[in-house]
Amino acid sequence: MNEISLHVLDIIQNSIKAGADLIVIVIEFDGERLTVTITDNGCGMDAETAARVTDPFVTSRTTRRVGLGIPLFKASAEATGGSLTVRSEKGVGTVVQAIFYYGHIDCPPLGSMTQTIVSQIVCHTDVDFAYSFVTPRGRMDFSTREVRQVLGDDVPLDTPEVVVWMRESIDNEINEIGGGSIQ
Ligand SMILES: Nc1ncnc2c1ncn2[C@@H]1O[C@H](COP(=O)(O)OP(=O)(O)OP(=O)(O)O)[C@@H](O)[C@H]1O
Ligand SMILES: [Mg+2]
Repeated sequence: MNEISLHVLDIIQNSIKAGADLIVIVIEFDGERLTVTITDNGCGMDAETAARVTDPFVTSRTTRRVGLGIPLFKASAEATGGSLTVRSEKGVGTVVQAIFYYGHIDCPPLGSMTQTIVSQIVCHTDVDFAYSFVTPRGRMDFSTREVRQVLGDDVPLDTPEVVVWMRESIDNEINEIGGGSIQ
């Protein structure tokens, strides 16, 4: 996978499969490291599974033997000198955090995070998403809970005008804090 956003998409799919109704994505760039954190309130994993989940031979899938989402994300982060950790608690939720050294020659581009997240908001309107982007110049915080409060019950999040507005306002705020240049 040649974009970090595609790994994030895969990790979000895990959270959806785990029954999460809140998924929090944070991208933090400190000038050197790009830290990607995805937190969910899904079913979580027992300690043994959580410890072994970065091993490609552990999966609960029955269609094929190996799960690759987390191991590929881990390999991609480690190729830059970074790392990936999974913390999980059964019945509580899961935190997946990857650290990339963004200046490393093997670091994939971030890719279109805004597009990835807005598409997941549209596909899973019963799930709440929060998305933050932090740079040395400031932060952007977006939350579907806040948008729902403003829109009320009559205007769903997948209304075309709302989708365009979400995409533009997130991108504008990220550009204001210099995040656009690392996409
Ligand atoms: N957020 C999560 N909550 C609960 N369990 C999870 C979560 N993420 C991963 N898991 C567990 O870890 C396993 C491995 O995840 P991984 O993404 O690596 O592979 P997969 O989802 O099984 O397959 P693939 O991503 O290749 O389609 C999953 O099958 C699931 O059992
Ligand atoms: Mg997966």
